[in-house]
Amino acid sequence: MDKNRIIIFDTTLRDGEQSPGAAMNLEEKLRIAGLLEELGVDVIEAGFPISSPGDFQAVNEVAKKIKKSTVCGLARAAKADIERVAEAIKPAAQKRIHVFISTSPLHMKFKLQKEPEQVLQAVWDAVSFARSLCDDVEWSAEDAVRSEHDFLCRCIEMAIKAGARTVNIPDTVGYTTPDEYGALLRMLIERVPNSGKAIFSTHCHNDLGLAVANSLAGVINGARQVECTINGLGERAGNAALEEVVMALKVRHDRMPFTTGIKTENITRASRLVSQITGFVVQPNKAIVGANAFAHESGVHQDGMIKNRMTYEIMTPESVGLTHSSLKLGKLSGRNAFRTKLKELGYELGDNALEEAFRRFKDLADRKRDIFDDDLIALVDDEMATVQARIKFVSLEVYAGSKGPQKATMEVEVDGKLKKVTATGNGPVDATFNAIKQIIPHEATLQLYQVHAVTHGTDAQAEVTVRLEEHGRTVNGQGADPDTLVASARAYLHALTKLLVKREKKAPDDMTLISSSGGQAAE
Ligand code: KIV
Ligand code: ZN
Repeated sequence: MDKNRIIIFDTTLRDGEQSPGAAMNLEEKLRIAGLLEELGVDVIEAGFPISSPGDFQAVNEVAKKIKKSTVCGLARAAKADIERVAEAIKPAAQKRIHVFISTSPLHMKFKLQKEPEQVLQAVWDAVSFARSLCDDVEWSAEDAVRSEHDFLCRCIEMAIKAGARTVNIPDTVGYTTPDEYGALLRMLIERVPNSGKAIFSTHCHNDLGLAVANSLAGVINGARQVECTINGLGERAGNAALEEVVMALKVRHDRMPFTTGIKTENITRASRLVSQITGFVVQPNKAIVGANAFAHESGVHQDGMIKNRMTYEIMTPESVGLTHSSLKLGKLSGRNAFRTKLKELGYELGDNALEEAFRRFKDLADRKRDIFDDDLIALVDDEMATVQARIKFVSLEVYAGSKGPQKATMEVEVDGKLKKVTATGNGPVDATFNAIKQIIPHEATLQLYQVHAVTHGTDAQAEVTVRLEEHGRTVNGQGADPDTLVASARAYLHALTKLLVKREKKAPDDMTLISSSGGQAAE
């Protein structure tokens, strides 16, 4: 391989999912994995199989689906963990086992309660066992940045001798700085006698906002793999953002002459999908994918842009897949135009899903003058997530305003039966959610309610995220509609549907979530 080619290792589905509140279900993980493959990610870390049966299944299903990227699973330095990964990734075309153990004095003493020599032995045992099950093994020195250099060098040498092809140097706690991290990578590559037999990798957390800068410093000093996540999702302050690392390498190729296999035109789509699924909104001024990243408001800037875009733009919006074009589709557009436009946006739906999406598109076109690409993306993603839903929103009428009491009259189809209720509440959203509670009694509590205007103007498509928690299980639901209250109801129902799916998996006979009609519900 080209010595300046950087391997992009995406851990959105593993480290990213470890963000509190970012739990994803199987279908969502598969959608993200599919998009990561399209994006050109080299390695997809799909999960931590020993951590739960759900994680095992997700890694296993990703392994079945993904053909071009390597599929990787995480394991502690323990036989059972490693066997579980090997089993989960078995169907993958290209597979990797990622084994880690802490090497810093602090972690070894308090977390592992092991002496350094025992850790060294564990490195050998774990990596050689993993190699007996899989050719491609990565070893990570957790908390590498706070490890003693001599000991870290000995561990790395041992891991490579045991067969690790990739050695990862995590800044687990986001503590390092670019100069320190770059020097660490250089020192390790120079001092470890067999370093030439492995690829060195960065894995930087963002606690000081330095994850991307540190990762790039690692690359400049010899690392050839970067571990990162879409939108910088990840533990605490997150991981290095994939889109920032990749675009920095692309735009500043003059300073950093490295390449990646990322098809950058898919970046915006990947960012939106991850944000929509997790409910983690991207801040407007976020580099590369924030809503304002390519917006020019001030007169001086707009004047410069009209004369020459390069005055204020260091990369084009098109290069990250952002199109501002107002869609020419409208009320009179037919199925073919709709299908073609979706394809252009990267969505290929089956016949039934397309028919359902087309129906909703017509519905939207009746109510909204301009339909933008963003409107369609929100509509189709929502469509994909809810197409199987057994709980169907039918109608909502809301009485709102300052006089009160605010009330909502709602019709929902539950397993083919129409239910209608009227409920009051502390505001129209509360009334709407109370109506849903009457139709579908449940104990789930609302953890997050978030409204996001996908497009501009007062007729913008509202995208709502609702997070529900029930008996320790958390789910996110999304809904999109020009009417914020309808979007809210859709999002709540979407989340409830997911809870139902989870509950059915756990106890197939427990259908109480949808079988009881509630005191005031009239069928
Ligand atoms: O941050 C970290 O150290 C990790 C390892 C498991 C690679 O996520
Ligand atoms: Zn991490």
